[in-house]
Formats: sequence, structure tokens, C-alpha cells
Amino acid sequence: MSDEKMVNIVSLAKRRGFIFPSGEIYGGSNGYWDYGPLGAQLKKNIRDVWWRDMVTCAPIHPHTRKPLQVVPFEGSIITKPEVLIASGHVDKFKDTFYHCLSCNADVRDDEIERGMCPKCSAEITTEPREYNLMFETESGVIEGNKSLAYLRPETAQGIFCNFANISNTCRVKLPFGISQVGKAFRNEVTPRNYTFRSREFEQMEMEWFFNPDDSLTPEQWHEFWTDIRLRWWESLGIDPDNLSIEKHEKDKLAHYAIGGAGVTDIMYQFPFGLGEVEGIAHRTDYDLRQHAEASGKSLDFFDQPNEKRLYPHVIEPSAGLDRAVLAVLCDAYTQDESRACKEYMAIHPKIAPIKVAFFPLVKKEGMPQIAETLYNHYRRRYDCVYEEAGSIGKRYARMDEIGTPFCVTVDGETVINDTVTVRDRDSGEQQRMDLQSLEGFLAYSLW
Ligand code: GAP
Repeated sequence: MSDEKMVNIVSLAKRRGFIFPSGEIYGGSNGYWDYGPLGAQLKKNIRDVWWRDMVTCAPIHPHTRKPLQVVPFEGSIITKPEVLIASGHVDKFKDTFYHCLSCNADVRDDEIERGMCPKCSAEITTEPREYNLMFETESGVIEGNKSLAYLRPETAQGIFCNFANISNTCRVKLPFGISQVGKAFRNEVTPRNYTFRSREFEQMEMEWFFNPDDSLTPEQWHEFWTDIRLRWWESLGIDPDNLSIEKHEKDKLAHYAIGGAGVTDIMYQFPFGLGEVEGIAHRTDYDLRQHAEASGKSLDFFDQPNEKRLYPHVIEPSAGLDRAVLAVLCDAYTQDESRACKEYMAIHPKIAPIKVAFFPLVKKEGMPQIAETLYNHYRRRYDCVYEEAGSIGKRYARMDEIGTPFCVTVDGETVINDTVTVRDRDSGEQQRMDLQSLEGFLAYSLW
């Protein structure tokens, strides 16, 4: 694992249209990234898989064996100070950093703990400085009539503030989840490691509400979700050897997780080191109680089987979508000197930005027409492309580089007997099949 691997990944991602520095024509902007055509599609595919696995087709209850109940939500990004005062973010959502007077670098305290001192290797020269991570903005246009607001630092707070709205309008019973995917903003002092620590990023969060005195304890729910979520990361095609679990030390817990069953992080071995991709926290009943007290509104819940009102506890699996894209890119990046492209992206077929490429072998003898007909048939179902320019070898190489799992080629035989060749990205092997078998093959392989 090396800087060199990271340089290659960043270069491929830029060259092929996955990720660009934001505002690059004006010199870029530290901590902000834009997703190009392939990056935006890859990101959407991962988001869709998360949505399917955590909302529409949620996991099975470990005891009842019935599907868990999870409802979706989408809250606003701009947030009133009252919300973030009650949640504790205004007071406590702070990082500590040190500034090196010799090389001018800022370093977070946790980076120092992980041995990432300023490049110049000088002693840290300033006292620790604390700063709040939240972005402030103003709502309203007329001077004197503007009010302070924040860009949300986590998507979760919208869910807690709407807990009564949601539970009163959807016929939910404990335990149940509320899921949300959306942007969050943190004014990180040290955005670094490509997109890993950005100032604008997307979270995929679920708040899982349950009665802590019911048949499953908070510790059991915490373990259940940690296991489910670890397996989800593996289901993206990520090598299990690159994934691990880290439990937070008691004295390092976020303010909302103190007094609970703790926080576990799912870690991925990036080329630049081990990094958190998801946190699973037992937030207890902290957030609902804080908002109930500050707003004066009742945010408890009537638990029918137990016939009592209670503040449910919360387990929160919170995954970073940008970190998922980055982990997928790092894991998929493969060097192979024997190939024309020398490097290719072994992205899992279910999330690959382009799933099938349709090629005519040559631009004559009716081949382009057949290939285009196939493309038009399949593009309704899968992300496909049709390409006829360049040699077939160059077209395969280009598809390997961007992670397209299958290339379907129409050749002289197709015209005679309705068969095509299907080339597998990872093995480079081709198999011939008839057009009917192609339907089943793609349906099975792209699941
Ligand atoms: N609601 C809980 C929460 O926000 P967190 O551990 O601070 O917890 C959850 O964030 C996830 O969001 C992280 O595991 C990470 O994947 C992602 N994340 C956090 N800060 C990030 C940043 N600056 N850039 C990219 N992703 C970030």
C-alpha cells in the first residue's frame, strides 16, 4: 500500500471522469470535490443499494424473522440554531488541532495519536486550539432581519426533530427505523487524503428506535447492526481483509453516545492508512430527551405491547457515501501489465457505473445495426453504452479501465446465427452465447 497507488487512483479517477477537484478551473477548493459522469453514477448506484438494503428491503428481525420496519425521510440542510444547541453541537461539536510554526501545517489531535505529525517533523509549536466544526450562514435578505443558521453537520438531527411527526403519521411500532441520505457539512481544519476528509460530504444514516427493556438489549441491537453493516460493506465487493471493526475508547465517545453501549467504527484499509467508513453508535435516548426538553414538545412514544410511554433508545449506523465511493475505487484498482490498459477497475457488477458495453466488431455488414438494437433493448434495464469507434482492443481496454464488467460484441457470426460474444472484464475471457441466453446471463450477473 503506497502513496504511488493513491496517485494512480487519483489520476485514473480524474482522467476517466470519476472525480474532479471542485472549481478546478479557478485552482480548486480545499475539501471540496465534484463527481464526473462515472463518479456520479457510481455514487448513485451505491446510494441506491444502501436505500434498498436499509429501507425498501430492510434486514430481517433476529428473533421474529420478519422484515424490520424502516421508513424514509428527507430533512432540510439549513438548520435553526435551536436544533443544534439542544443536540449539543453548538457547545460540543469541536475538534482540537495544533499548528506547526515551522512548516505551517495544521494537525488534528487524533492525527498526532496516529503518528501523522507535520511533514517537517518539528515539535508541535502551538498550544492546542479548539474550534467548532459547523458552517454558519444567514437566512433572510434584509439587513437587520437576517437570522443565524447552520449547515447541518450530520443528517440525524432532522430525524429526531421530526420523530413525533413521523411516528404520528406512519403506523410504526417499536422497534422501527427512520433512514435518510443527504449532504452534511463540516469545516474540517485538515481536509485531506483525497475525498476521505471533505468539508461537504454525503451521509447514509438510519436511526433505529427501540425499547431498551424489550427482548433485545441495546448491546444486542448494537451487535446486530454492526454485523449487518459490516456484511453490507463486503457486499459491495470490498475485500473482507481490508475491512475491520474498531471499538471507541470510553473517553473518546461523541457527546451523544456517553452512557450507552458504545460506538464501533467500520474501518477500511486505504492506501494512506486505516480510515473510518461508518460509525455505529448507541445514542441512547439522549437526542429525543434533549429536543423534548428544549422545545417543550412531547417526543416520547406509546409502546403498545408494554402499554407505557417511553423515550426509545437509538442505534445509529451512519455511513459516509463519499468514503464508500473512495473505498470501492481503492479496492477495485488493479494493475495488470499483460493488458493493453495496464490497470483496470474491478468494480462489483451491481454498482459499476456502466454495466454493459455493446460493440459491433466492425462498422459494416449490418453489425452496427444489431449492436444498436441490443443496446436500445437493454438500456432501459441497465446502465449501458454503445460504441463503434476505434479498434475492438482499444474499446475493451477503455471499458476495463472504467470498470465495465461485460462487453457484448456483435460479429460476423451474429448475422448468421444470432450469437454474440460476452467478454468478462476480470478474466478477459470471452464466451459465445445466443441472444436468449444473454438475457438470463445479464440478469443473473448484474444482480
Ligand atoms: N450521525 C453520526 C455521525 O455523523 P460521524 O462518525 O461523525 O457520525 C459518520 O460520521 C460517517 O460520516 C463517518 O463514518 C464517515 O464515513 C462520514 N464522514 C464524517 N466526516 C466526514 C468528512 N469530513 N468527510 C467525508 N466523510 C465524513
